[in-house]
Amino acid sequence: MQFAGSHILSVTQFERADVETIFSVADRMEPYAHRRRVTKVLDGAILGSMFFEPSTRTRVSFGSAFNLLGGEVRETTGFENSAIAKGESLYDTARVLSGYSDVIAMRHPAAGSVAEFAAASRVPVINGGDGANEHPSQALLDLYTIKKELAGRGRGIDGLRIAMVGDLRYGRTVHSLCKLLCLFDRVQVVLVSPQELRMPGEIVEDLRAAGHEALESEALEASIAHVDIVYSTRIQEERFSSQQEADLYRGRFRLNQTIYTEHCEPNTVIMHPLPRDSRETARELDDDLNDNPNLAIFRQTDNGVLVRMALFALVLDVADEVDAHARDVNWYTAGRFG
Ligand code: NCD
Repeated sequence: MQFAGSHILSVTQFERADVETIFSVADRMEPYAHRRRVTKVLDGAILGSMFFEPSTRTRVSFGSAFNLLGGEVRETTGFENSAIAKGESLYDTARVLSGYSDVIAMRHPAAGSVAEFAAASRVPVINGGDGANEHPSQALLDLYTIKKELAGRGRGIDGLRIAMVGDLRYGRTVHSLCKLLCLFDRVQVVLVSPQELRMPGEIVEDLRAAGHEALESEALEASIAHVDIVYSTRIQEERFSSQQEADLYRGRFRLNQTIYTEHCEPNTVIMHPLPRDSRETARELDDDLNDNPNLAIFRQTDNGVLVRMALFALVLDVADEVDAHARDVNWYTAGRFG
């Protein structure tokens, strides 16, 4: 695809070569993300960060990524703080705010809303999650993490064996990840969820049409026995009609160190888009996994900055100019303070 000036709304807009381009630009962002070098390639550029649903890491990592490229961030959070609360349409908001920014990252509770907003925007819009639909930058950072985690083990994305566990009906990260995996070869996906929270049928069909094996299961232990990755998700309680309904499913699939040791192959990588629900009634990924070196959840969040830097650099067409606007720094602190 042509990245320059494009919206990033769904992973279905990518071909495999596009994903590889994003990953190779992300690799080149490492010295900047680790603050060994600074670049001013986006000096003067403004990111409109518009998050109309709760978000910590996605919002902050989009902002950090933009700052690390030398740009500035303007934030709008929550409907109550925006003119949408006065009845303004997405069209009008997009026309106005795209006049104040060079690129927009947006999250909204309604599926399709970010695309609707983008259609009226004068600048590129990146989907930071639209309801239960898609979360393309998360799927990219998840796949980038999978690639890096498996690189030293003689395994790659082709031939990947992955179990996705939890709320597969409303979890937009797993929707996008499955669609992205359709670009690769010979993937085995085990979809573990309560019957009522199964992966939407059309996404399962897409996996099979891509030549992948897609199995659905309600049994955690058997499903995680022969996989490279266990990708756990939280029950998306905000998508249920009531808290009581979400409570029916919370805590159904819990992975802890004992279950991991008994059932997983050694070195199975554990992932989660976060936030994990650490309340007693949920605990889909127990805190006792925190010292497990295969717990990749915080490497995922670090990789998110690299991938989002790559998306900004590509969409704003500066990927090849980053180094020309850079210098080394001498205040780099990592390792110096123990
Ligand atoms: C996810 C999301 O918002 O879809 N979080 C994130 O962006 N990392 C997953 C979730 O909220 O459960």
